[in-house]
Amino acid sequence: MTDVRTTQAVAFPQNRTCPYHPPQTYQPLRDARPLSRVTLYDGRSVWAVTGHAVARALLADGRLSSDRRTEGFPMPSERIAGVKFDERRVALLGVDDPLHNTQRRMLIPSFSVKRIAALRPRIQETVDRLLDAMEEQGPPAELVESFALPVPSMVICALLGVPYADHEFFEEQSRRLLRGPEAADVEEARDQLDAYFLQLIDEKLKRPGEGLLDDLVAQQLATGAVDRDELVAMATILLIAGHETTANMISLGTFTLLQHPERFAALRADDGLMPAAVEELLRFLSIADGMLRVAKEDIDIAGATIRTGDGVVFSTSLINRDTEVYGAPEQLDWNRGPLHHLAFGFGIHQCLGQNLARAEMEIALRTLFRRLPGLALAVPAEEIPFKPGDTIQGMLELPVTW
Ligand code: HEM
Repeated sequence: MTDVRTTQAVAFPQNRTCPYHPPQTYQPLRDARPLSRVTLYDGRSVWAVTGHAVARALLADGRLSSDRRTEGFPMPSERIAGVKFDERRVALLGVDDPLHNTQRRMLIPSFSVKRIAALRPRIQETVDRLLDAMEEQGPPAELVESFALPVPSMVICALLGVPYADHEFFEEQSRRLLRGPEAADVEEARDQLDAYFLQLIDEKLKRPGEGLLDDLVAQQLATGAVDRDELVAMATILLIAGHETTANMISLGTFTLLQHPERFAALRADDGLMPAAVEELLRFLSIADGMLRVAKEDIDIAGATIRTGDGVVFSTSLINRDTEVYGAPEQLDWNRGPLHHLAFGFGIHQCLGQNLARAEMEIALRTLFRRLPGLALAVPAEEIPFKPGDTIQGMLELPVTW
């Protein structure tokens, strides 16, 4: 049974002190696994899930809602709490079934293992071109800007049918949405993206092209299965989720490997280990470190009762280092076997883009390390800035040389 007194003083989320480990100040939450209490930025106390089995049970439980408009939804920061969710259309991650299921079913075929396998040559070509350019201009290089971000950004643009020529615009909006200092940044970024996608949809109605958005316009909008605002909300989450996340895994994954020379050497010696290494890095880094839900009904679990309206936060980094499931979880190990990690979540909202993300990470990291065998940090590790705790984790910059 959770000892609430020992853990509710722990603030959530907190910044990591080391970019690849959970904050050390989460130690009381580890000690109180699998369920405890934490305090949000505004002083509100909510449940924190830190155990693997309880996390899977709760993420698969239809009594928890993902809808940010539900009374009691736990907001991780002031800037997110200030967003007017009532006035916005949301899609996928922000809606519950049955609407969620209707939206997701329209997208599943485009992210199947088979479709993503067919995209691999295109991903490889993108990676090769970016590395050609990096080699021509460097060393040194800033890896986020010249490689980690453009790889997934170019790929998701091609998949959706969004012109990559507009990437500076939507990367800026994505940055404001995920890391802008105030709620106004989030609102303005959404306004800009709404206007952008409304115009793009108009163009696609007139001149259909090849891409998932073109298909959705032709098949779902034309038949009235979705309206324009819903389609805009779907396009926005796909574009944002499709590039920032994988970009962080590529940058933080590279940084982490450079900080673990022995593990890195083993991977280089046998890069057939790469798919296993990608899974282990997903577990170890847990970049989406804070999934959020609210209870729609009372739930009895792990000796506690989560009451209707209680907020529930999932600390992915602690869940993925649960000692009941993983031996020596603080170590990188390429030979763990099936991992069942929750880096992509679990249940109905489990990451739609996980096959794509895996293919991108595998191709990007394998090719980067093959082509630049002398890859090293260009400045001391302590000087490299990384992202704050209330957003997807990753490196803000990664200066490298080779
Ligand atoms: C390594 C990279 C990625 C990580 C770690 C990641 C992580 C996650 C996690 C943890 C969730 C569930 C959140 C929750 O339940 O609260 C999620 C959902 C989602 N992800 Fe990813 N993601 C990644 C890449 C991608 C890519 C490339 C796409 C491409 C479009 C994508 C699209 C989505 C969408 C649409 C959802 C919402 C699904 C739904 O609500 O049904 N993600 N992701």
